[in-house]
Amino acid sequence: MAQRIFITGGAGFIGSHLADRLLEQGYQVVVYDNFSDFYSPSEKRANVSKRLKNPRYHLVEGDILDYELLTSAMKGADVVVHQAAQPGVRFSIKNPEKTHEVNVTGTLMVLKAAEKNEVKKVVFASSSSVYGVPKYLPLDEEHPTNPTSPYAASKLAAEKYCQAFQTVYGLNIVVLRYFSVYGPRMRPDLSLRSFVERVLSGQPPIIYGDGNQSRDWTYIDDAISATVAAIEREEAVGEVFNIGCGNRTTVNQAAHMIISLLGKEGEISPIHEPAYKGDFPHTQANIAKARKILGYMPSVSLEEGVKRLIEWCKTVRQMR
Ligand SMILES: NC(=O)c1ccc[n+]([C@@H]2O[C@H](COP(=O)([O-])OP(=O)(O)OC[C@H]3O[C@@H](n4cnc5c(N)ncnc54)[C@H](O)[C@@H]3O)[C@@H](O)[C@H]2O)c1
Repeated sequence: MAQRIFITGGAGFIGSHLADRLLEQGYQVVVYDNFSDFYSPSEKRANVSKRLKNPRYHLVEGDILDYELLTSAMKGADVVVHQAAQPGVRFSIKNPEKTHEVNVTGTLMVLKAAEKNEVKKVVFASSSSVYGVPKYLPLDEEHPTNPTSPYAASKLAAEKYCQAFQTVYGLNIVVLRYFSVYGPRMRPDLSLRSFVERVLSGQPPIIYGDGNQSRDWTYIDDAISATVAAIEREEAVGEVFNIGCGNRTTVNQAAHMIISLLGKEGEISPIHEPAYKGDFPHTQANIAKARKILGYMPSVSLEEGVKRLIEWCKTVRQMR
């Protein structure tokens, strides 16, 4: 019997790609998602619609804060991948309570339900934002964690709950700190998609701050390979992993790359708005640990990944 993987937030960007990969690899998949209205629920419906006829795919619409429903939906799961969250650094600055409720209390509910169901492993989707302002680059997993936003604080608090459940209840935990994941189906609030959408509609990309901040952008397929390895590899248990590319590119460079790939050089230039509090200057992952233990080998360059993102954005626009 194929292993049963329970994905919270499995209708979202990363979660839906994970569901697709796991189905391809023969797993049974249960997606648990409340189709939150943080961004268009219809995009999330589109992410799951093609899978609904697959007998190895099951969708449960529910909130991770609904402990009873969550616990019963999780019955029979071998591994839980906890992707559901209230994402967004800027959102969290305006709505810290909502961020806390979903990301911290919600994670507590997921861990309790996993423990109750005697799940073999929980893989938690954390974030590079837990590091805050870097003291050195590239960031390894030992770098101090100094959250600079309610979102980052909520992800770190959730990591700590994971650790506590491992210590107290013996739950097997793997923590993945994703670095700026991008690609088809990505969230509209994230910079690369917003740049592509704006240039496609003849508008300049909006950059917050001077654009010299840099990011380690990670293509979705690479992030999914790491997540599948975290599910499958015994040695991953009890560990925290950086999931990035190992390189960094400034926001200015990324915006210009998009303008150039869309053939709008000389016609469109980015505009700058004030930096927002909670943003951090640079991210760049040291991925040695993920390479060694997860066999992780990111393989998609930023240019190639952005080309694929552009193609997807064009398709979505045609369907609107
Ligand atoms: N995308 C990135 O670059 C990135 C980087 C670091 C960490 N992460 C983390 O990865 C995970 C997935 O991120 P994403 O970009 O795919 O976001 P996403 O918003 O596309 O996916 C999250 C999913 O969770 C669902 N959800 C939200 N609240 C819920 C609730 N209360 N109950 C049930 N489902 C709920 C949403 O409907 C959505 O489908 C998140 O935990 C996020 O914090 C993402």
